[in-house]
Amino acid sequence: MSQAVPVIAIDGPSGSGKGTIARRVAAALGYHLLDSGALYRLTALAAQKEGVCLDDTRALARIAAGLDIQFGSDASGDELILLNGADVTEQVRTEQTGAGASRVAALQPVRDALLGLQRTFRKPPGLVADGRDMGTHVFADAALKVFLTASAEERAQRRYKQLKGKGIDVSLAALSRDIEARDRRDSERSVAPLRPAEDARMLDSSGQSIEAVTNTVLDWARGI
Ligand code: C5P
Repeated sequence: MSQAVPVIAIDGPSGSGKGTIARRVAAALGYHLLDSGALYRLTALAAQKEGVCLDDTRALARIAAGLDIQFGSDASGDELILLNGADVTEQVRTEQTGAGASRVAALQPVRDALLGLQRTFRKPPGLVADGRDMGTHVFADAALKVFLTASAEERAQRRYKQLKGKGIDVSLAALSRDIEARDRRDSERSVAPLRPAEDARMLDSSGQSIEAVTNTVLDWARGI
């Protein structure tokens, strides 16, 4: 059954535009969407709320396995994320939560605990999944695998604009340092390191508009 449901996997480093591109591709195709990074972010956030330390592997795996979450949209169509029934949309997207997510994501028991949950998003007519290991692990049989990159400067700039736009105060220099540290941790970790799947198509979004990148992925998707 799940074999018949096509998956488009979009992996890449933070700030490469995966989330935006995945959302647009899913909307254009009428597919479901999985933002797998949000699950790691929610695990880190839930741990923080419960006072669980980010190196307590057993407690973190328990939290990941029991996440009570809902993804939806608010009255104006913007993203809405609920954790235990409470709106955590903004908290999920902070740099602090991102850094926590990157720490909990390095723990194999946490990754194992989230695997089944991620696969439940695969429903007809199809799924666009964005993350770090969608094409290499979670949906290794994806019909299309895209590895989306962008230069480190451009990624820091994009994140800066995004956070400023939300009224969150950050410095560009601090953001660049955070992005580089997170990249290093994500690609050098022994557990599920960030790397393109062997059969992934590489796409560098530096200097390209969101529309252009979305159209490239849609062109590839039409060929699957
Ligand atoms: O993509 P996003 O910035 O929301 O991801 C937050 C963190 O979650 C990443 O830095 C990465 O460590 C982790 N992650 C992961 N595997 C995924 C998605 C995210 O390890 N599939």
